[in-house]
Amino acid sequence: MRWRGAGQVFGLGLARTLAPTLAPTLARSLTLAGALMSLGAVKDAIPPALAWAYPVAPAGTPPTDEGPGPFKTPAGTLVTRAQLDAMGQNLPDWAPSQHPPAPPIIRHVTRKDGPAPCAECHGMAGAGLVTLPDLAGLPAPYIVEQLRAFRSGQRRSSRPGWLATNLMIHEAKAVTDDEMGEAARYFAATPRRARIQVIESDFAPATRMERFGWLYRAGSGRQPLNGQVIEVPGSLVQMAMYDPALTQIVYAPRGAIARGEALVQSGGAAGQPCASCHGAGLKGLGLAPPLAGRDPSYLARMLWDIHSGARGGPSVALMQAPARGLTPRQITEVSVYLASLKP
Ligand code: HEC
Ligand code: HEC
Repeated sequence: MRWRGAGQVFGLGLARTLAPTLAPTLARSLTLAGALMSLGAVKDAIPPALAWAYPVAPAGTPPTDEGPGPFKTPAGTLVTRAQLDAMGQNLPDWAPSQHPPAPPIIRHVTRKDGPAPCAECHGMAGAGLVTLPDLAGLPAPYIVEQLRAFRSGQRRSSRPGWLATNLMIHEAKAVTDDEMGEAARYFAATPRRARIQVIESDFAPATRMERFGWLYRAGSGRQPLNGQVIEVPGSLVQMAMYDPALTQIVYAPRGAIARGEALVQSGGAAGQPCASCHGAGLKGLGLAPPLAGRDPSYLARMLWDIHSGARGGPSVALMQAPARGLTPRQITEVSVYLASLKP
């Protein structure tokens, strides 16, 4: 796993290529955001009710640390700390039967200063990672459209300069059109799998934050949810190993699932039931992607990014009225309900 060491940004390959570009890009987007904000065109308006979906770690927050090792792999063998660290360069494939043969862009850094492998952030079988979207079973034309929207600047984050979105924008600019098509066909042909368990409660286990804002369980205490959602990986070592059996546990406020279900059925203030476009069981239909069993912070971010106008793209117009009809609190509830469904 490569998102650990000093100076690394998710991946070594990526960190190398980002070094000259990220700072100016960030600076530009921040300056632009500042300029627009002073014109009143864009507010960094992440509503407090959605703060959980756009985590930012305070400067100096330490990176992920799974401990000194050795670590048990999904195959039952042991690897050292150094072997674990090296895995992000050429991703391990523990379950080749779960997906079609993978083109190189999915698993490897294929050229000097080339793009990071898609699986580094989206998983070998496209299952995603804490807060990062799964891609398995998304329609290939939808994936290509999104990559083009990231590349052209149409698809941005409501939180100007938010690192995770900027990394994906950088990735979309670094891949060739051929790689885009290969990756899109690969993920579209990969079956969707359940990985999320939602637990409604007034409390979540105590957590600590790592440098990307991801939360990990810490100690045996608990914390009040206060209307927020807290998601943690089932196991840090499984996460570091890119184990396809990694689960994700989501703690959500009591009643969120039922209130979210009612909103999904009615369509909220816009009055268009979500399934009318996203298909039976919210499993996707045409260019409207599947929503069932997806990461709740990702879904909440997208609903807010579409609501705020930060996410554009050729097919997003259809989605604007449904997203604008939801309040921040309703976005949380809808996202929790959708995450709780079978993919
Ligand atoms: C460094 C991490 C990283 C890498 C590598 C990466 N992505 Fe992403 N990707 C992200 C993040 C983060 C998001 C979500 C952005 C957001 O929340 O605004 C994302 C979002 C996406 C989406 C949008 C999903 C949706 O449902 O609309 C697509 C499609 C996508 N990535 C495709 C790819 C492909 C194809 C590759 C390999 C060529 C790739 N990504 C490599 C981090 C990454
Ligand atoms: C009129 C059709 C329509 C309706 C109704 C609709 N959607 Fe969508 N939705 C779309 C389309 C099309 C997209 C893809 C937009 C794009 O290509 O950028 C989308 C995208 C999304 C996304 C982003 C998914 C991703 O992978 O990034 C979310 C989340 C979403 N819709 C949730 C909802 C919810 C919740 C409702 C009900 C409140 C809803 N949608 C109702 C058409 C619709």
